[in-house]
Parts: sequence; C-alpha cells; structure tokens
Amino acid sequence: MNAMPFPAAPPAPRFFAVVPAAGVGARLGAPVPKQYLEIGGECVLVRALRPLLDASWIAQVLVVVAPDDTRAQAVCAPLAGANRGRLQLAPIGGATRRDSVLAGLRWLAARAGATERDWMLVHDAARPGLRAAALGRLRERAGGHPVGGLLALPVADTVKRAGLRDEIVATLPREGLWLAQTPQMFRVGVLRAALERHPAVTDEAAAIEAEGLAALLVEGDRRNFKLTTADDLDLMRALLGDARRPQ
Ligand code: C5P
Repeated sequence: MNAMPFPAAPPAPRFFAVVPAAGVGARLGAPVPKQYLEIGGECVLVRALRPLLDASWIAQVLVVVAPDDTRAQAVCAPLAGANRGRLQLAPIGGATRRDSVLAGLRWLAARAGATERDWMLVHDAARPGLRAAALGRLRERAGGHPVGGLLALPVADTVKRAGLRDEIVATLPREGLWLAQTPQMFRVGVLRAALERHPAVTDEAAAIEAEGLAALLVEGDRRNFKLTTADDLDLMRALLGDARRPQ
C-alpha cells in the first residue's frame, strides 16, 4: 500500500527591508538631505542601514532614493561590498514617504521575489540610532503576531492639546498613548494593499489600521528617534560620540 503523501509545508516566510531615503528633510535646514549628514564621521544613512545588514535573518535591504539622487551610490559602496547582494539601491522614490515605500515594495516583489506572505520591515533612513536589541524584539514579537507590528514608545509626559496661539485647550489622558517609531513590520501582501488603498497615511501602521487590522506595539528604544530638527542632530551627535557636538 502506498503511503499517503504529506502536503508540502509552505516555505517559511522570509524577511525583507525597505529604507525610504528619498526625502529632502527641509525641517532640518541643512544643505544636504538629512540622511547624508555625518555623525561621528559616518553618514546617517549608513548608520540606519547597518543594524539591518547586521541582522543575518533579513534577506535583502532595499534603499529607495530620489530619481535625481547623486550621493547614495558612493555612500553605500563600502556597505555593499561586505554584504554581497543583500544591499540594493533603487532611484524610484516618490513625492511622499508612502509613495517611496510602495515603490520599494513593488521593486522587491518584482526583482527579489518577495512574496505576499514574506515579512517587510520599513525603516526610516533618518533614524541612525536603532540597536540590535530593539530590532530583535520586533522580529520576535511582531513576527509571532497575526498582523505584525512596529517599534514604539509609551508616552511619559503629560499631553496637552493646543488651540490658537499655543494656549492649552485640553489635557489628554496619556494612558495607552504611544509614539510610533520604525522599523514597522507587516506581511508584504497586506502592507502593499493597505498602502495602495490609503494614500494619505504618514506611516505603514496607519494604513494597516485603515484596513481594520490591529498591529502590535513593541517597545522601541529612546535612541531610535527620527532626525527632524537641528536639535535632534545635536542630540544624536552627543549620544553617538561626535566630537563636533555643541558644549
Ligand atoms: O520627512 P520625514 O522625516 O517624515 O521622512 C521620513 C523618511 O521618509 C526619511 O527617511 C525620508 O528620506 C523618507 N521619505 C521618502 N520619500 C519622500 C519623503 C520622505 O523616502 N518623498
């Protein structure tokens, strides 16, 4: 008698990362986009990419830059050598962060074989302070969740809502409030559909929410803040030991 063949187990999902780096960072007022500023002799973009490349469980990391970008190739070259084929660069950035991320997702599906069930991590190029512990937590916790999740920090300060002229109109209960960080990690197919259907979002989790899905908040890292203003740059330089920090 022939044994009943077992149905083949589906392949384990892989992990991909897309790093949107096509913004100009106008609020920082620097002469170059913020991802190309240096901290401790190293470019912000390189610092944002390193923890992803150091995580051997991430199959490929795609950096999405603006079509007229002239810096990324040279900046990424030292990383590319050591990470044979795992680091890719595509000049396909769009008008908004969401457009750049979506272009990256489509690129990874078409060129790197990312399937609907694979996990996609999206990490801002302007976050040079991500550490392995927080990244590992995200994989562990969001990877075991049906929807996925993101790094975030519970709000510690009392939260005020301002009206006109910056006068307080309300104090909001801070219980249950979190500040979203990146990486944000969702299944490729779900994230792509969510971003296609909800163009007016500022992060991936908002698109997932708009689909009626509940993403998991995973404790992030205070050092993983996004560079937005000149103050943020000073603070990051102080944290990462840049000799040029103001005294
Ligand atoms: O400007 P903001 O800080 O929100 O940008 C977050 C991230 O999104 C940055 O890494 C930036 O380079 C990226 N971005 C992008 N394409 C845009 C706008 C922003 O890739 N059109």
